[in-house]
Formats: sequence, C-alpha cells, structure tokens
Amino acid sequence: WETLYKEKNRPQFHFTTQRGWINDPNGLIFYEGEYHLFYQHNPYERDWENMHWGHAVSKDLIHWQQLPEALYPDHLGTMFSGSAVIDYDNTAGYNKGNTPAMIAFFTAASPEKQVQGMAYSLDKGRTWTKYDKNPLIDSKAKWNSQDTRDPKVFWYAPSKHWVMVLNERDGHSIYTSKNLKDWTYESHVTGFWECPDLFELAIDGNKNNTKWVMYGASGTYMLGKFDGKVFTPESGKYYYTTGSIYAAQTFANIPASDGRRIQIGWGRIQQPGMPFNGMMLLPTELTLRTTKDGPRLFNVPVNETGQLFTPVKEWSNLTSGDANSKMKEFYDSDRLRIKTTIKLSHATDAGFNLFGQRIIGYDMNGNLLNGMFYSPQDMTSMELSADIYVDRTSIEVFIDGGAYSYSMERKPDENNREGFHFWGNNIEVKKLEVYSVKSIW
Ligand code: FRU
Repeated sequence: WETLYKEKNRPQFHFTTQRGWINDPNGLIFYEGEYHLFYQHNPYERDWENMHWGHAVSKDLIHWQQLPEALYPDHLGTMFSGSAVIDYDNTAGYNKGNTPAMIAFFTAASPEKQVQGMAYSLDKGRTWTKYDKNPLIDSKAKWNSQDTRDPKVFWYAPSKHWVMVLNERDGHSIYTSKNLKDWTYESHVTGFWECPDLFELAIDGNKNNTKWVMYGASGTYMLGKFDGKVFTPESGKYYYTTGSIYAAQTFANIPASDGRRIQIGWGRIQQPGMPFNGMMLLPTELTLRTTKDGPRLFNVPVNETGQLFTPVKEWSNLTSGDANSKMKEFYDSDRLRIKTTIKLSHATDAGFNLFGQRIIGYDMNGNLLNGMFYSPQDMTSMELSADIYVDRTSIEVFIDGGAYSYSMERKPDENNREGFHFWGNNIEVKKLEVYSVKSIW
C-alpha cells in the first residue's frame, strides 16, 4: 500500500482506480457534501470485462477516496452504465425517516440482451439493495436491437415526473415515470450513440433564455426544446470536445446555490505497465455562450482545479522560435499546465503540436475542420488561447475559454523531445505561462 498512487506512470491529478480496468463515469451525484463518482470497473483485470460499478467520493472534485465496489453483476447480467438520483419526495417508497434514498439506474447486460434496473442506498451510496422486480425496462423486442442501455434519469419539475433518457438502437429514447419503477415510452431522437445526457442551460448566464442540451458519448450535442416528453432539436449536431474523451456525464443534485453543470468524462487512455487502465478526465463546467455561429457549448475545467497549479515561468511577446526554445526546459516534465495566447495576424497555417500531434491548425477560411482545426472566435484580433494540462499519460487542451477542447494520450516511456511546439508562418506568441502541478494523492 505504501507505493499505491506513487507508481511511475500513475496520473497525479486525475482520478484513476487502484486496480483493474475503468471506463464510463456512472451515477455522478452530489449529496450531503460529497461528490460521488461511480464508474465502469473490472476489479480483476486491466481489460474490459466483468463490469461492476466502482465507487469513489470527493469533497472538492479534485481529491478522491476510492470506496468498495457499489454494484456487482447479478442474474440479469453485468453492470453497465447509468445514473443516480435522490428521491426527496419518496416516489419509489424507499425513504427511511428523514433519509431520502439515493437511487441508481443501470443496465444489466447478458449475452442475449440488455435491460434496465434500479437499486437504492440509504447510507450515502456505501451499500445498495437492488429492486426485487428488476428489470424496469426490457425493450429489446421493441427495437429488435441489443443496444438498449445507459439510463440517465432526472426529475422534470414542471410536470412532476421523472425522465429517463436511454440509448436505444440508433439514438436516444425518452421514458417517463411517477414512481421510478413503472416507465412509459414517450419519444426517440436519432443520431446519437451511447451514454445520453439531457439538461437545460442558460445562454450567457441569462436564466430567462435557456436551451436544452442533448448529448451522446462521443462529444456530439444538439440544442433544442424539451417539454418533459419530447426533445425537439433546434440546431445541427456539433462537437464540443473530441479526442480521447468518451461517455461523459453531468452531476445530478448540484445545489441551486451553486447551479453549475459539472461533467466528468472517461479518458480512453492506456496506462502502460500499470496495475490499472483508463482514467477520468478533469471535471469541467459546461456553459452555453453566444459565439459568431450562435449559441454553443463551452467546456472548461472547474474552478476547483485552480488549487493544483503554481506559476513557474511567464513570458510575453515571443516569436514562435523563441517560445520553442524556452519550452525545452520542460521537455522532461511529465506533469505541467501551459497557458498560451498566440496571434495569427498574417498566418495562413499555424498552431501548435503536442508530441507530434497537430492540436490546433488555423484554417484561413475560418472553419472548424475535422475537429482538429479551429479558427479564433474573434476574427478581428486573430488571437487564439490555449490552456493545456499534461499528466503523465494524458493531455487535455481547452481552446478559447472552452469553445473547443481536445484530449489525447501521452506516451510516458517514449522520447518526448519536441513535446510542445509552435509552428506556422507569422505567428506571435503573445503570452506563454508554465505552471507546476501538485499531486492529489
Ligand atoms: C460506453 C459503453 C456503454 C456501456 C458501457 C459498458 O463506453 O459501451 O454504452 O454501458 O460502456 O462498459
């Protein structure tokens, strides 16, 4: 145990499990001062198999304490992804005195089908009892499809009912319920795949002007209207993030006094030589902001991450060549935060590379191409800012205050020379800041 969390390639400011494989975050919920992170876990091996719900808690979204497994496989199958709610009004009848039940919704997956189930906890998610009449929903016959999974449940106050968004066949279905046990099919939106989420966000912080966001596992989303039963898209389908991120989910039950929409995504990151595999990416806050193209989803690390970083170096107005030689000092650092603003005045092709991968390429026509090219939000200043987080095996990049984000693998045992590299003609590095990072373990 003395070496636990000190392993050579263990990420130092991201959640990883002690042992085994992890994928999707599940049941993200805040309750009584704790953020709960349940997650797809194979406790026995570094490969995907044998899914359980692992469990960790945090008081600040940054420092995590791993707890025993929350949900084990049963006669209906292994435990696939899902969500959690607090049943304040005792709609399911599990509350005890003043203690409302925490209720988890999961998919039980067997070789022949995937069905939806629930379980409740009266001790802050530490121990769970499964509903004795599971499954709640068995829709394989309806869709003639194996792919019915990943229930995301939330309370829709205007109609006083629960909503479940479920990945089914080629998109996301919506079901409603009064008691969390009996569910009615309402509608279906095509064009999404796995791990749905659906939530309302204010545009530019104005609570009188909101849109609903529907998203899927791969970083795509649509904006639209929601009446409690039907989601009506009002936009195209966009990416707010790409790269190694997958199956992100947002936290339930964040107090109104906080009001943030906080997300954690799975980092599909190989952890070479480690007793664990995969990781969670940084918790981020999602907002809707008006851009030159209309309202878009922005994604930035939550404020709480600030406590991790200490400024080390800062420069202004460098040529890209100068900036590249300054960065040499940090080629061997396996944990860093780098913030930079570049000006692209007459550049036709410019940006920066991380470990050989082109992260930002400015396109002269000002278009976002294939998710790797991005043009400045403000075409008059032609400035582009990046906030970059390097943690041993992963890199996360947030461009222009979260207008676009990208995550990728870093191979810690390979030569990382030329790790961070500005390139392009006529690019000016207006600002370059480097921070050291504290460990959370
Ligand atoms: C997404 C996913 C989910 C499923 C889970 C199984 O990564 O495929 O759709 O519930 O992983 O581990």
